[in-house]
Amino acid sequence: MLEGLLVDLVPYGKAFTDLEHKWRNNDSSFFGSGGDRYFATRAMVRRHMERWAEERERGADDDVAFGIRTKDGEPIGFIGINWMVPYHRLAMLGAKIGEPEYWGGGYGTDALLLLLEYAFDWLDIHKAWLMTTTMNRRVMRQMEKVGFTLEAQQRRAALADGVWYDWLAYGLLREEWPGRAAVIERIGLRAREEV
Ligand SMILES: CC(C)(COP(=O)(O)OP(=O)(O)OC[C@H]1O[C@@H](n2cnc3c(N)ncnc32)[C@H](O)[C@@H]1OP(=O)(O)O)[C@@H](O)C(=O)NCCC(=O)NCCS
Repeated sequence: MLEGLLVDLVPYGKAFTDLEHKWRNNDSSFFGSGGDRYFATRAMVRRHMERWAEERERGADDDVAFGIRTKDGEPIGFIGINWMVPYHRLAMLGAKIGEPEYWGGGYGTDALLLLLEYAFDWLDIHKAWLMTTTMNRRVMRQMEKVGFTLEAQQRRAALADGVWYDWLAYGLLREEWPGRAAVIERIGLRAREEV
């Protein structure tokens, strides 16, 4: 378990996979995908989770998945490395807080800092990166706060509820990562009881 200030990162076990059906059909997937309005049946989600578990058993090692759990023990989402390229030591990150009432409260940034520490210090990656769209102001703000650089912008390439948005690629190099404690200090992230 990776212990943060607002959340802990724990194995992505049954407490989380049971919530996948809800999370795939709400706004967290709309924002997470850059504008798709998914409809996923319970059977589709179950099959997808089973395939994912089978791949893990077969030893697939190009992703890492953590559940995000509040300090009260509530499972609220997912964060991980969706695609790892060992040769280049690249990690493409993904995150989804499936419970919208937790958005904008610092939980996702706390989780991101734990994941970055894990990726840089334990997996020895050289670069973390991710993609989002200009619709996703929370991620854009999060990237700015944590110190990612906007590296590429693909214009009008994501359609969300009839509006075109740009795709954005953000990256953070190892030498730009000052360490979790320094970022926490800089952005003033605090545990709830300290607020
Ligand atoms: C993206 C996500 C993981 C971020 O986690 P989070 O807990 O919401 O993020 P944080 O609260 O740490 O940071 C978000 C920042 O955006 C700000 N913000 C919130 N709504 C905003 C808006 N509409 N416009 C601009 N900024 C906004 C918050 O105030 C906060 O900044 P602050 O700390 O300076 O106040 C989470 O929102 C989420 O899962 N969203 C749905 C799925 C998704 O978008 N996944 C990412 C795909 S790339």
